[in-house]
Amino acid sequence: MLIYAVKDYEELSRKAANIIAAQVILKPTTVLGLATGSTPVGAYQNLAEACTKGDLDFSQVSSANLDEYKGLSGDHDQSYRYFMNTNLFDHINIRKECTHVPNGLAEDAEAECARYDAVIESLGGVDLQLLGIGGNGYIGFNEPNDIFKKGTHCVTLTQETREANARFFETLDDVPTHAFTMGVGNIMAAKKVLLLASGAGKAQALYDSLFGPIDPKVPASILQLHPDVIIVADEAALTLIREKGLL
Ligand code: F6R
Repeated sequence: MLIYAVKDYEELSRKAANIIAAQVILKPTTVLGLATGSTPVGAYQNLAEACTKGDLDFSQVSSANLDEYKGLSGDHDQSYRYFMNTNLFDHINIRKECTHVPNGLAEDAEAECARYDAVIESLGGVDLQLLGIGGNGYIGFNEPNDIFKKGTHCVTLTQETREANARFFETLDDVPTHAFTMGVGNIMAAKKVLLLASGAGKAQALYDSLFGPIDPKVPASILQLHPDVIIVADEAALTLIREKGLL
């Protein structure tokens, strides 16, 4: 596991974009596993700028996103498909038909999960999986649980997660109750994982995930078993790890 300690969010965004850019330059047909949330937004902006300048070419890249709210169409401004289009895909030369996000409107949840796993398989698996981390160590929508779920599945969102995401909706009632998410198995199958953590709110989760026991109660802790993980974290997110003298 490689940990890059950076000063702040701006530096984190540049570093993350550089790592993704290096991956795309070295393998133009890269399959990117992508995340939404606030953390990757700056990296996406940097990637868009590099592409606009002509320094980066996404024309042969494919992508598969981690998750999507169940019940929201891709046009809904809080859907993850909409987020990806507006924060990244509309600003780079990736072919939209090569970008994949679970279908939030799928009626048959089980069939949609099987379809999404088959999509990832048909792409030949993910080369580089980008991850943010939830305050309690969750990745994708894999929340603390008694087991690590393997493949794409449909989750009932906890009240805590719905409340955390309510800031993006008009009322708490508008926050979907379910979501599709890649499983921990899908994430672990990626050839390389890039996890970003910014801000003091992530300090405990980062410490528990990287140095605590491997436990489905802290889903990101499974990454300790992955052979190729890069962490980019700012000083605020690293406070606890620094305090314990682990870095
Ligand atoms: C997003 C995702 C989530 C976020 C996590 C952190 O696709 O899967 O696990 O990475 O909720 O969100 P932010 O970056 O907003 O702190």
